Amino acid sequence: MKPAVLVSREVFDDTLALLAEHCAVTSNQADVRHPPEALAALMAAHDGAVISTNDRIDAALLDRCPRIRVISNVGVGYNNIDVAACTARGVMVTNTPGVLTDSVADHTLGLILATCRRLTEAEHYLRAGRWQANFLKQMLGKDVHGATLGIFGMGRIGQAVAKRARGFDMTIRYHNRQPLPPEQAAGAQWRDKDALLAESDIVVLLTPYSPATHHMIGARELAAMKPGSVLINVARGGVVDDAALVDALRRGHPWAAGLDVYENEPQFDPRLLELANVVLTPHIASASEPTRRAMANTAARNCIAALTGQVPPHLLNPEVREATRA
Ligand code: DGY
Repeated sequence: MKPAVLVSREVFDDTLALLAEHCAVTSNQADVRHPPEALAALMAAHDGAVISTNDRIDAALLDRCPRIRVISNVGVGYNNIDVAACTARGVMVTNTPGVLTDSVADHTLGLILATCRRLTEAEHYLRAGRWQANFLKQMLGKDVHGATLGIFGMGRIGQAVAKRARGFDMTIRYHNRQPLPPEQAAGAQWRDKDALLAESDIVVLLTPYSPATHHMIGARELAAMKPGSVLINVARGGVVDDAALVDALRRGHPWAAGLDVYENEPQFDPRLLELANVVLTPHIASASEPTRRAMANTAARNCIAALTGQVPPHLLNPEVREATRA
């Protein structure tokens, strides 16, 4: 009998076809958002689940689904999943690194350009019929070329952002817990957190969210940023204290921010909408059609592998499989 897989949200037809070759699939192409109770009830009848980063998987939910053997996240960030609770129950957890690196890096550059050159503000100005004349000091922005870029989280995506930034003649600095080997840093210099904030014209956040990075950028850090600088958050809501950011942006320090992620998504601080010095996108950094398809199909392959006795390509808790084999 084929193993039973729940796909919690809408995916591409080819993702379902891929899964159906090996599994009996319960899909959700209507894209109904299941509250935790309903998700647990559905998952309880399945061996595996392909889930979205909006689905929360915690110990209480897992206890209601003893049949589940794999949680396959459609996304690289997996702070929505209590991996330790999964490991303790022998449940494999997988994610989709790699396939979204370039699309997220592209979007990051888009946010940098839109924020520094006031693109959305300028478009609103034009659409509102306020463009009556051309004048020297119209919509003055910041130059992106030649700026100093400070990257928090110089992993795969950080390095892809740095590669693009070199094309803009930017000076690149970064902060990771440990400096990278020189061949990976490719000329970018490591700085401690405060030095990176003080030196950068543009600060980009790509740090994974965890209790350790909760409000990593709060009122103190925002005050420590270089005057006239810009903050870009493409990491996760919660890495930035959004209330402190709104207060800081109101004072014009940082000068502006470009945000793709927010605390309590899809809710966000409504005061952000009152600010002209922000560019806001709804967590779409990875949302090109080929990339979202690749993410869903990678998640499907991870799930199939886990349920057919193979090692999933992107297994986050290999100790589960080792325990099963022992
Ligand atoms: C990810 O893959 O983590 C993206 O943020 C999409 O959720």
